[in-house]
Amino acid sequence: MTASQVLATAHPNIALVKYWGKRDTRLNTPAVSSLSITLDTLQVATRAQFGETDALTINGASEPRATARAIACLDAFRTETGVAPRPIVASSDVNFPVAAGLASSAAGFAALVVAADALYGGLLPSPELARLAGQASGSAARSLFGGFVHLAAPAHAADPIDVREVAPADAWPLEVVIAVTATGPKAIGSTDGMELTRQTAPFYSAWVDAQPADIEAALAAVLTKDFAKLADVAEHSCLKMHAVAMAAQPGLVYWNGATVAALHCVRALRQAGTPVFFTIDAGPQLKAICEPGSGDTVAAALSEIPGVIDVLRCGLGPGALAEAC
Ligand code: DP6
Repeated sequence: MTASQVLATAHPNIALVKYWGKRDTRLNTPAVSSLSITLDTLQVATRAQFGETDALTINGASEPRATARAIACLDAFRTETGVAPRPIVASSDVNFPVAAGLASSAAGFAALVVAADALYGGLLPSPELARLAGQASGSAARSLFGGFVHLAAPAHAADPIDVREVAPADAWPLEVVIAVTATGPKAIGSTDGMELTRQTAPFYSAWVDAQPADIEAALAAVLTKDFAKLADVAEHSCLKMHAVAMAAQPGLVYWNGATVAALHCVRALRQAGTPVFFTIDAGPQLKAICEPGSGDTVAAALSEIPGVIDVLRCGLGPGALAEAC
C-alpha cells in the first residue's frame, strides 16, 4: 500500500509470562522470552503523513522523550529498509491512561511501525515490523500480532527476536478485567526498572534461568486451553517478576494498597470457583484474566474494592493494522 495519509490502530498486550531484563541495551534485546495476549477495546489510533520534520503528538500534546523515541524508531525503519529519509508527522489518540502500566507504549510503537510501513509502501512483513517495534520497546513487538503471542528471545544478543501468534483471539476468547488503582504515570519506567534489577538484584540470574520452563508450561496451557495450568504459571511469573524487582537496590515496588487488595480478591474468587487469575505489570493496575463468561462476576467484585478507581473490560483483539485514509 502507498498512501499519502494512513490510520494505524494497535492494541496493548498483557504478558502472562513476563519480559523483565535485557541482554543488550543498545539493541534492546530481551534476556527472556515472553508470552502475551493482545487486547481489543483499549486502542492507540495513529494518523500519519509525510511532513517537514518527524513529529509526534499524543492526545494532542507533544512530549520530548516520546518524540525522541518515535524518531529513533522511524530512523531504524529507514535504515533497515533503505527508503529515502522522508520525515513523518504522526498524531496518536490513546483511549486509556498513558504510561500508567497499561502498555500504552507497546501499542504506540506497534501503531507507529505499521503506519510508517504503510506510508513507505508496505515494505516489511509483520515479523520484521515486530523486530523494529521491539527495538523501541520490547513489549511493542508483541502488539504486532493478535490473540496469544510468543516472543522468543535469541540465544545471542545480536540475533533477532522471533515473534509469532500461537493462537488467534477467537480460539480461546478470554475476558480481561482491569482494576485501575492510579492514573498518574509510574515513578520508574520499565526500561530503568529492568536495568536496575539486572544490575543489582541478587536473584536476577535465577529469574532468567527459570523462564524457559514457564514459557513451555504456558504455551502448553494455551494450546490445550487448560485454564488452571495457565493461572498457575501466569501468577507465578508475575510474582517472580515483582519479587526480583523488589530485590533490586533500591527496591522497586510498583503496587499500592488497592493492588494488593485486588490480588487477594482474585485469589478468593478463584478459591470459590470463579475461573480467574491476576497479572500485574510495572505499575499498580491489576489485570484479571477470566475464562469466557466470568468477567461480570470479577468486574463486580473488583469494583467494590476501596482504591479501585475504575474497572476496564476487554476481550482479546487483533494485531496492529494500517489503512489509507
Ligand atoms: C512489566 O516493553 O515497556 O510490562 O523494552 O524497556 O521498553 P522496554 O520495556 P517494556 O517492558 C514491559 C515490561 C512488563 C512485562 C511485559 O510486558 O512482558
